[in-house]
Amino acid sequence: MGRAPMAWRLSVTLSVSAARGHPSAEGTASPGGRRRHRIAFGAMPTIVTLPGDGIGPEIMAPALELLRTISEEFSFEEHVFGGAAIDVHGTALTDETLAACKQADAVLLAAVGGPRWDTTDPGAPRPEQGLLGLRKGMGLFANLRPVRPVPALYDASPLKRERIEGTDLLVVRELTGGIYFGKKTRTARSASDLCEYSVDEVDRIARVAFDAARTRRKKVASVDKANVLETSRQWREVVHIVHRAKYNDIELTDVLVDNCAMQLVARPSEFDVIVTENLFGDILSDEAAMITGSIGMLPSASLGEGGVGSNTPGLFEPVHGSAPDIAGTGTANPLAMFLSVAMMLRHGLGWESEAAAVESAVDRALDAGLRTRDLGGEATTAEATRAVIDNLDG
Ligand code: IPM
Ligand code: MG
Repeated sequence: MGRAPMAWRLSVTLSVSAARGHPSAEGTASPGGRRRHRIAFGAMPTIVTLPGDGIGPEIMAPALELLRTISEEFSFEEHVFGGAAIDVHGTALTDETLAACKQADAVLLAAVGGPRWDTTDPGAPRPEQGLLGLRKGMGLFANLRPVRPVPALYDASPLKRERIEGTDLLVVRELTGGIYFGKKTRTARSASDLCEYSVDEVDRIARVAFDAARTRRKKVASVDKANVLETSRQWREVVHIVHRAKYNDIELTDVLVDNCAMQLVARPSEFDVIVTENLFGDILSDEAAMITGSIGMLPSASLGEGGVGSNTPGLFEPVHGSAPDIAGTGTANPLAMFLSVAMMLRHGLGWESEAAAVESAVDRALDAGLRTRDLGGEATTAEATRAVIDNLDG
């Protein structure tokens, strides 16, 4: 830490290109396809942090330690969120927190939810409403979930090594539409959730997926249930219109969601970019996470129009939940959180070399044998944090 930031950055850039065979797997998938620029060093990026519930605070603290090691220039602003905010304010997301998130350069979230706030009462506040409100309120329609098992963890996956070897896929999940946000009804005898998509919503997420594929292996699997659902039939048409208009260089395949669920465990390495609607993306990304051995390894970025430097800051969070069963034990795996920090550095701030350095440090720590409990080992959160930070200098 005693070193000048510039010198440190130069050394990590060099060691990173040697350590990783490929550039960022999720590529330059900035919605809007705009050229991304870097938020300048010295500009003091403001990061709003939302530790949330359960293991959230325990993995947020290491993330801040990691960020402080990378640069002394961050300014952090913490807000209560999720169940913790329900306890204090009676709502999972206050107007003040939403406003602070909109003003930030990026938002880093750990996890929300827990049995304490579980309820089936439609009128009671729930922690998840905070997350949904944040996504919708910030206009974060594109959720990127890269799934890239680290060779050191091949044997931690419930799938056979030969099936997962070479897997490097990106789930592009539509995040602000569909059944999550449609009208909900409830009477004593029935309930309903409306699934609705506009052509524009499908059009813009399709573009994100095709742009991402262009920086990768140039394949997109568009996942729907067009044999049953009207929203899926229109989804499919729109995706093909976008493809024909601008993305002839990309190989597009339509995959039914049930078949996709099967192919993900049978032949995961065949996939490059998977683009799908909100609910299918939620389910498929948890399934895909297990290819990496643990859901404790999967990061995500939620982005709005414009990408880095635009008026819409991104939201960066691990895919896993708040794991209330292990909260307070100091054994949570912080790696998905660290990889979410890497996505924040890349997509939120345009700091590509620092992002790659974090990913590389995670790889090296795992190569050297780091295993938290979810990965079949004994390492505590603090030990995992130390291992990754020590490998930053590698
Ligand atoms: C996710 C989570 C959320 C979702 C929950 C917590 C509302 O499962 O980010 O995948 O369903 O989107
Ligand atoms: Mg989920």
